[in-house]
Amino acid sequence: MRPVSVYRCQACGFQAGKWYGRCPDCGEFNTIVEERTAPVRGAGAVRRIAPAADPASGTIPVRLAAVSAAGAARVHSGVAELDRVLGGGVVPGSLVLIGGDPGIGKSTLLLQASAALAREAGPVLYVSGEESSAQVKLRADRLGLAAPELFILAETQLEAIEAHVTASQPRALIVDSIQTVYLGDLESAPGSVSQVRECGGRLMALAKGRGIAVFLVGHVTKEGALAGPRVLEHLVDTVLYFEGERHATYRVLRAVKNRFGSTNEIGVFEMTDGGLKEVANPSAMFLAERPRGAAGSVIMAALEGTRPLLLELQALVTPAHFGTPRRTVLGADYNRVCLLLAILEKRAGIPLQNQDVFVNVAGGARCQEPAADLAIAVASASSYGERPLAPDVVVLGEVGLTGEVRAIGGLETRLREAAALGFTQAVVPRSSLVAGARYPLTATGVTTLEEAIGLLVG
Ligand code: TYD
Ligand code: MG
Repeated sequence: MRPVSVYRCQACGFQAGKWYGRCPDCGEFNTIVEERTAPVRGAGAVRRIAPAADPASGTIPVRLAAVSAAGAARVHSGVAELDRVLGGGVVPGSLVLIGGDPGIGKSTLLLQASAALAREAGPVLYVSGEESSAQVKLRADRLGLAAPELFILAETQLEAIEAHVTASQPRALIVDSIQTVYLGDLESAPGSVSQVRECGGRLMALAKGRGIAVFLVGHVTKEGALAGPRVLEHLVDTVLYFEGERHATYRVLRAVKNRFGSTNEIGVFEMTDGGLKEVANPSAMFLAERPRGAAGSVIMAALEGTRPLLLELQALVTPAHFGTPRRTVLGADYNRVCLLLAILEKRAGIPLQNQDVFVNVAGGARCQEPAADLAIAVASASSYGERPLAPDVVVLGEVGLTGEVRAIGGLETRLREAAALGFTQAVVPRSSLVAGARYPLTATGVTTLEEAIGLLVG
């Protein structure tokens, strides 16, 4: 059979019969690449449904109640923060994709996790397509990892990896990274959409067929999407992102898709000389360098999944020297901050049209929740008036366009975290307060932004 060329967009997977400079589907430029498709072997590619009477086929409908879920028992990876993000441990037979910028620490995390997993659960095969076995060994030595059941394989051809898995029967397989492995049958280059998708599919079959947990490392492009393997996000069971600022030492592992647990769960690590250390109390870490009694600094309690996290929001308001005032936002949502500044101007009478405003979430953290609205607005008002808040108060609430303070979720959890770190007062939406409830600190309800400003920095 004559090999057929298809032209495929490397960003979205769109397939065309001819080359385009711009993908007609997703609109990206220069992403269409020619790929030679392997001829389809045999006409039996489409599986026919077996006769319902044949119990051996495994494709007959079964009562949900009769399905055994025994295979889903979780194994602890030995890295508690990773277990938390996975939803309570590693599920045998699951396929997990870990994405992140180059150099953020994906290989370090997985090497530490596989050593711990090898001690807890049995043999683990770590396939490195980017580093030689000696490089991995050097790193393991530096991290002080010792695990007799951890096997290293420097290989990029998927057929060979499959053969080694069949031969050594590991409990878990790590592929670092999916962009370096390739199938010899396909003519396109490693890392292209068709290679990544085919390899992903084969590894999925391997995971499900043998009941081993498979972790794939995926690199992220500068736009923030998993390069090429966006197609993989649909296929895999769990997608985790490992993120953080390169200059800051802490790293956050975040679930964006999880078939075995909740998303929005985060794990916090610190990158040290001795590898990644789990941070059991991230709130304390983010508040460590908080200035006390400084104007423009407000503490809020964010909720990441089920985990409350105290963050310091900072604002700096200074007179603008040029025509259009500047708005610079780091770690929070730019449009929300602009909206809040307009509300401050209109509803609280704070003239900001000739002021530069800089908003920052301290420590390089990120906070996109509406529950941070009130803290951002109060921080701006505090900086504008040079009036610091009391040091032991947390501020929570969403702010609407009329300046009303709206209810937020998870109030109790947030207040408990704040109380645990020594805060004694909270300013919260009145509608979130439950009559008769006992809160771990003094919670004052407010209904408008103006009221909150009067109370805190008036
Ligand atoms: P790595 O795991 O290789 O990143 P990725 O696989 O995501 O590309 O992490 C490399 C970075 O981590 C590198 O910049 C050095 C840093 N690092 C430490 O600071 N301490 C350590 O113990 C290790 C192993 C790495
Ligand atoms: Mg790496």
